[in-house]
Amino acid sequence: MSFKGESSGMSRRILIAYATRAGSTTGVAEAVAGQLRRAGYDPVISEIHTDPSPEEYDHVILGGPVYMGHMSEVAGYVQRHEAALQSRLIAAFAVGMSFLEDDKEKQAPAQEALRSSLSSLLPRHIGYFAGKTDPGKLSFLQRMALKIVKSPVGDFRDYEAIQAWAMEISGDLQRA
Ligand SMILES: Cc1cc2nc3c(=O)[nH]c(=O)nc-3n(C[C@H](O)[C@H](O)[C@H](O)COP(=O)(O)O)c2cc1C
Repeated sequence: MSFKGESSGMSRRILIAYATRAGSTTGVAEAVAGQLRRAGYDPVISEIHTDPSPEEYDHVILGGPVYMGHMSEVAGYVQRHEAALQSRLIAAFAVGMSFLEDDKEKQAPAQEALRSSLSSLLPRHIGYFAGKTDPGKLSFLQRMALKIVKSPVGDFRDYEAIQAWAMEISGDLQRA
């Protein structure tokens, strides 16, 4: 695929736009950024709530956490910028406890949360990563919700898996 009007090679501008509520997706986004930096790129990492403009970048990587089967922040960002993201969204990821187990049935609703938040967009790279739950950072209602869905408590972020995924993206950028 060619990227019309974009900068060439390592000078390509890359945005990693991510959502977080309790902070754990920041670590995932930073791990992706770290891997791209090791590959020679200089990504800008930005929280979705600051509404970074995709137009200023050649490629966008988008991600966020799944809460109660939804990725509302990512969906909102896509709604606002869908046209600009069509040619720029190279990768998207979801962070959720459903990805802890290699169980297709358990993962399906969280995978669907990412798919539906992306609307018509079809990025070449999709990542699903286990996250972190820290009851100390949750409201009473959120703690109750976690108990109801029997979600495990702890930090399950797998940085090797995240870096391996980011390496696929940097390899793709080098070939493009
Ligand atoms: C109230 C609540 C609801 C959650 N709902 C889901 C869910 O539906 N699916 C899932 O895979 N993970 C779910 N999780 C796990 C979060 O996605 C996970 O903790 C993630 O790492 C949070 O990211 P953040 O720290 O960036 O906000 C839920 C967590 C909480 C506290």
